[in-house]
Amino acid sequence: APSDPDLVERARAAKAKLGERVFVLGHHYQRDEVIEFADVTGDSFKLARDAAARPQAEYIVFCGVHFMAESADILTSADQQVILPDLAAGCSMADMATAEQVAECWDALTDAGVADVTVPVSYMNSSADIKAFTGRHGGTICTSSNAKRALEWAFTQGEKVLFLPDQHLGRNTAVREMGFSLDDCVVYNPHKPGGGVTAEQLRAAKMILWRGHCSVHGRFSLDSVEDVRSRIPGVNVLVHPECKHEVVTAADYVGSTEYIIKTLEAAPAGSSWAIGTELNLVRRLAKAHPDKRIVFLDKTVCFCSTMNRIDLPHLVWALESLAEGTVVNRIVVDEETEHYAKVALEQMLALP
Ligand code: 13P
Ligand code: SF4
Repeated sequence: APSDPDLVERARAAKAKLGERVFVLGHHYQRDEVIEFADVTGDSFKLARDAAARPQAEYIVFCGVHFMAESADILTSADQQVILPDLAAGCSMADMATAEQVAECWDALTDAGVADVTVPVSYMNSSADIKAFTGRHGGTICTSSNAKRALEWAFTQGEKVLFLPDQHLGRNTAVREMGFSLDDCVVYNPHKPGGGVTAEQLRAAKMILWRGHCSVHGRFSLDSVEDVRSRIPGVNVLVHPECKHEVVTAADYVGSTEYIIKTLEAAPAGSSWAIGTELNLVRRLAKAHPDKRIVFLDKTVCFCSTMNRIDLPHLVWALESLAEGTVVNRIVVDEETEHYAKVALEQMLALP
């Protein structure tokens, strides 16, 4: 549905009043009505860099989810304030790894005698606590656009990687892009005693994968790939690496949201594409490329409900409050967590 013209006008007016004092970041999974007011759009990696590159903005309004706003707070200066227009915009994947669970896992690695040779690599989609754990133990953060480089670096620092919280991104990167076998991976399940793995398995593994996943991408199935191939002859299947290994293996192209956008820009007119990522982005891409046939990989999968929490009414409320001098929904990471999380984030930004 088209946006309420009154809200559009109010968002414009509040933004104009704030001028350079505010900078609005929009993740690719945000609604159209929100993307319209973003000063930049991007994937998680680009947005983290863009947030850090705006020292003149007093307020960073982050249209995305909680872990992204935390990362922005960590990477910006102390006097910059990061705002998340709806505090309920979390991420189910990030919630799958808590600090206590990760500490227990590290104890299990220690008991198995392998903690010393294990390097944590944590996906951006994790809480600041998990990023701080990663920094404390000499690891790095990665996003879906630099996971391979992060893993390559990690294997120069140690013999094994503890990859968290997305088992799929970890497995897909190690097996598809780096020549590891599925047998080189074990899954650590935080809900089972000892992670459900033996010390022997931990010692044998190269990749210790945390049992987490994205509730949106995890729903694409091998059936959806086979089904679209039978319906649309010659279709190119392009999916995000948060999809299951069998889906990624059956796809033609795999990459981050930024990669998906660039691939479609470069695709020839008349080509057909089935996209396995969040629906707001797929719909926007279909609209932007009327000369190509772009379909959603599986119609039973829907929006990321937490990304969708940020809507125009919440954005207007946040911008108008700031314009009137009231800071709402500020995301602040405590100093000690910030220190170690920043070590891990800066390690990512320094990857070759
Ligand atoms: P990217 O934008 O880095 O591809 O991440 C996808 C995602 O799930 C963000 O929540
Ligand atoms: Fe989290 Fe998945 Fe939503 Fe991204 S798409 S915010 S990983 S639940």
